[in-house]
Amino acid sequence: MKRTHYCGALRLSHAGQTVTVCGWVQRARDLGGLVFIDLRDREGIVQCIFDSENPLSGEAAHARSEWCLAVTGTVRERTNKNLTIPTGEVEIEAAELRVLSRAQTPPFEIEADTKANELLRLEYRYLDLRRPVLQKNLMIRHRALQTVRRYLDAEGFYEIETPMLTASTPEGSRDYLVPSRLHRGKFYALPQSPQQYKQLLMVAGVDKYFQLARCARDEDLRADRQPDFTQIDMEMSFVGMEDIYTVSEGMIADLFGAFGISVPLPLPRLTYREAMDRYGSDKPDTRFGFELKDLTDLTRGCGFAVFESAKSVRCIVVGHEFTRRETDALTDFIKGLGLKGLAWHKAESSSFGKFLSGDALGRLCEHAGFAPGSTLFAVAGDDERLVKTSLGALRLECARRLNLLDPDVYHFLWITEFPMFEYSEEEGRYVAQHHLFTAPMDEDVPLLSQKDLSQVRSKAYDMVCNGYEIGGGSIRIHDAVLQARVFDLLGLSKEDADLRFGHMLKAFSYGVPPHGGIAFGFDRVAMLLCRTANIRDVIAFPKTQSAAEPMTGCPVTVERKQLDELGIRLGD
Ligand code: AMO
Repeated sequence: MKRTHYCGALRLSHAGQTVTVCGWVQRARDLGGLVFIDLRDREGIVQCIFDSENPLSGEAAHARSEWCLAVTGTVRERTNKNLTIPTGEVEIEAAELRVLSRAQTPPFEIEADTKANELLRLEYRYLDLRRPVLQKNLMIRHRALQTVRRYLDAEGFYEIETPMLTASTPEGSRDYLVPSRLHRGKFYALPQSPQQYKQLLMVAGVDKYFQLARCARDEDLRADRQPDFTQIDMEMSFVGMEDIYTVSEGMIADLFGAFGISVPLPLPRLTYREAMDRYGSDKPDTRFGFELKDLTDLTRGCGFAVFESAKSVRCIVVGHEFTRRETDALTDFIKGLGLKGLAWHKAESSSFGKFLSGDALGRLCEHAGFAPGSTLFAVAGDDERLVKTSLGALRLECARRLNLLDPDVYHFLWITEFPMFEYSEEEGRYVAQHHLFTAPMDEDVPLLSQKDLSQVRSKAYDMVCNGYEIGGGSIRIHDAVLQARVFDLLGLSKEDADLRFGHMLKAFSYGVPPHGGIAFGFDRVAMLLCRTANIRDVIAFPKTQSAAEPMTGCPVTVERKQLDELGIRLGD
């Protein structure tokens, strides 16, 4: 019984044809000799019918959920049509049945809106993946990969694979280390990204490179982060920021266009500073407003000590009148972010109005753009960044509560002019905000001589969509003197720099082209295309929040012999 059609492919136009389908039993019903079997494959579900006179109906009546069957029969128009599924106008009048394999009762039902616990589903991921929604996500991911490949090929990019076993790099996230057997006591690291290799490919004259690169980072996980993930990684020679923007925008518009989502170009741009001022985030969700307003100057001398004594006072106005219970919950939300409290104001009531003198409240409301029917939320504190980011988080939380995050709406934008350095309290020094090879903005090079490096902007950019950072990159330093200076500012001695990046510096001494690039988080792009907020929904075999994989049980202990070979002895 050789398959002729996918279950999900049958339509009225097939009526009268003899077909063979193969798949899994979604549901079997025995109505006193008349047996219905809904058979499912990756393309959909079709109803197979065994009449009571059919000698196979006895055997068909034994079929259970998830048995794997082959059915041959004639396609016919259904009298009782089910227009909720694409095959719902037809059924197969079975003439032959083969049980290809039986199934135990599955630990959860394979259905669209499963209520089964995610850990259990991850343990039986091969069953979970049978659910149509995940089948569809895998198909979308596949099509997206092919679309990107075709686009970049047409743009003249070479697809080049770089090593999985690489040298550990000190900056960035924590590495996944791989011990070497042949070089006892030494370690490889899995790539956090192919950053150095792609730059070396530019020195090699490749000109335009891309890779659908598997990366691994040992960092805290979130809903949009996995320990191993995929980048659409690109690098180009003889380019500036505008060239990278153009290629990236073209690729994204082509990709989303392939799924019927139009992306108007060119994409809007916001500098990092503007994004932080207006949205309290460097990856703002711009599908809705509620922008931040600065009240710091306006509240000087307003009579309310909480506002007057704070270094920064900012607010948002949300177009909805929240109840007292809701403002209490939002106050708890803000306190959870490390602030003392949340001031709110509505047309009929206010948590702080009575403390303000004279017409200060009126001026504040006017400046903020407050109107009856909305709620103004203000936050005061000495840590300006915290004031902004917590209001940014509150803005998002309000939008979530008001159901404003429509997954069918896509707002792409660039964030530009990222700070080049970030002060790390932990390390007591400046660290690179993007990475060590990122170039400063030309006009900010003189600022490198100042003590305060926080004002230096870099040629780094992110592409953001609906609150996700979907890509990030930069123009690189290709001047040895400038690179040495940046290493120095980052506290890397010449010896350290030589030890860790000697190969880069050496390569750059043999004629390095000006170059730059970007990497897109392909899993995040897939999340947007699949309209899911859970990265695990777009990865065939994902890991849990604690970086484990319940199906294989990884990470696992290994045999003593393996450790001995590697010269590794475990502590307690
Ligand atoms: P960056 O570290 O910004 O840049 O990474 C690029 C993009 O990769 C995605 N991403 C992740 N996706 C899922 N899980 C993770 N743990 C994860 N970490 C990052 C994000 C991010 O925007 N080499 C540079 C790129 C360059 O400069 O060209 C780099 O890796 O969407």
